[in-house]
Amino acid sequence: MLLTQPKTENTSLQYLQPSSETEGEISPNQMLAPLTARVNESDRLEIGGCDVTELLAQFGSPLYILDEYTLRTACRQYRDAFIRHYPGASQVIFASKAWSCLAVCAVIASEGLGFDVVSGGELYTTRQAGISADRIYFHGNNKSREELQYAYSEGCTIMVDNWLELEMLAEIATSETPIAIMVRLTPGIECHTHDYIRTGHLDSKFGFDPNQLPEVFTWIRDRPQLNFIGLHAHIGSQIFERQPHQDLGGVMVEWLQSAIAAGLQVKTLNIGGGLGIRYTEADDPPSIEEWVGAACRAVVKACDTHNLPYPKLMCEPGRSLVGSSCVTAYTVGSRKEIPDLRTYIAVDGGMSDNPRPITYQSVYRAVLANRMSAPLSETITVAGKHCESGDVLIKDAKLPQTRAGDVLVVLGTGAYNNSMASNYNRIARPAAAIVNEGEASLILERETYADLIRQDRLPQRLRES
Ligand code: LLP
Repeated sequence: MLLTQPKTENTSLQYLQPSSETEGEISPNQMLAPLTARVNESDRLEIGGCDVTELLAQFGSPLYILDEYTLRTACRQYRDAFIRHYPGASQVIFASKAWSCLAVCAVIASEGLGFDVVSGGELYTTRQAGISADRIYFHGNNKSREELQYAYSEGCTIMVDNWLELEMLAEIATSETPIAIMVRLTPGIECHTHDYIRTGHLDSKFGFDPNQLPEVFTWIRDRPQLNFIGLHAHIGSQIFERQPHQDLGGVMVEWLQSAIAAGLQVKTLNIGGGLGIRYTEADDPPSIEEWVGAACRAVVKACDTHNLPYPKLMCEPGRSLVGSSCVTAYTVGSRKEIPDLRTYIAVDGGMSDNPRPITYQSVYRAVLANRMSAPLSETITVAGKHCESGDVLIKDAKLPQTRAGDVLVVLGTGAYNNSMASNYNRIARPAAAIVNEGEASLILERETYADLIRQDRLPQRLRES
């Protein structure tokens, strides 16, 4: 059963279909399930040509399943949309905080994208994945001297966030080997998303206040060890409106102009990430093509108005690149029925592999991978296995009659799930497999009990004699 079939209601199949009669290519961020999701002859969910129920038998449960085709499609759509809509140079970089691991980096790098890293650890991961430093941009509001030194010695570009960092960089870099920097500012642009993931409003810990910029520009201009290349802003995440990024394009071009007026050479403008994805039927994000097109038009218009040459235009999506390309498969376990109140089913993971529901009240959709066309006859709450009442993955999920041993698949878990996972309750983090054209390969080993105590040290005096 393919994505193009007529709409099916009240079975899990509905989650595999586009939200509306989409014209042209389907944008991965508008789909609840990966693009290759289909149902096989055994009425089971297949992703990347692999039967999800069999994948659990092969790799164990729970399991992150990453669809390579969907991830590559999202990368390509971003890249191509810039080429179509922007007359100047452009570069898309992956905000690797969304999912930093060797295989994800390798796939994205092979599509020609660059990388945004926010810690020495993310930088190390991208370098170990073989990504050259000229494609890596180092973010963060409190980078340590060691991290800056590391990034400098590797040759990355630094997204400078504050005065302390500027001072440290001026000490670390030399005028013979200057360090490339971009300056991050908080543009004062509001967008509608969860408070914790808004960053562009003035009361934010990230970046320079625009009022400080004239002073920052002069300071940088007088230091030949700092090679200023441009400006950056990121206004938030999981955004469905196009207007904030259009406004941002205009505002940023004005700041580019004042950098030029201060005597700096401006080559690059980075408008951050933020495009949302569809976690539920109610979510209606623009396509990658629409989002990129709107942002490009705003920048082109502002440059034309100010008679400014087009800078190299960059953006740095995380969620909309990996979010929809991955699902998490769990095994259903215990069940608790509270008459006239609620029925719980519990799965063999929860807030340790997906902390987003408990952190941001995020809502997800799930399907029963081993009985895809069964009617959605139950409204039940899917709980995790952690010792915490709030460890609920989905409230009031519509599912078929479930039994212990069923395979429950939560959709859209590629972004900020593995990367925010923990070992709460000393539960081992799941394995991850990448699937493509019927082949599945491990990309993250499942943690073992031994892994859980690997960093533990027991001082001699505490050992039992
Ligand atoms: N650039 C910067 C500077 C960022 O801070 C972020 C995300 C991005 C790009 C990528 O944004 P995206 O395209 O993924 O929206 N843990 C939260 C999301 C935090 C986002 C942090 N910054 C969540 O699970 O919703």
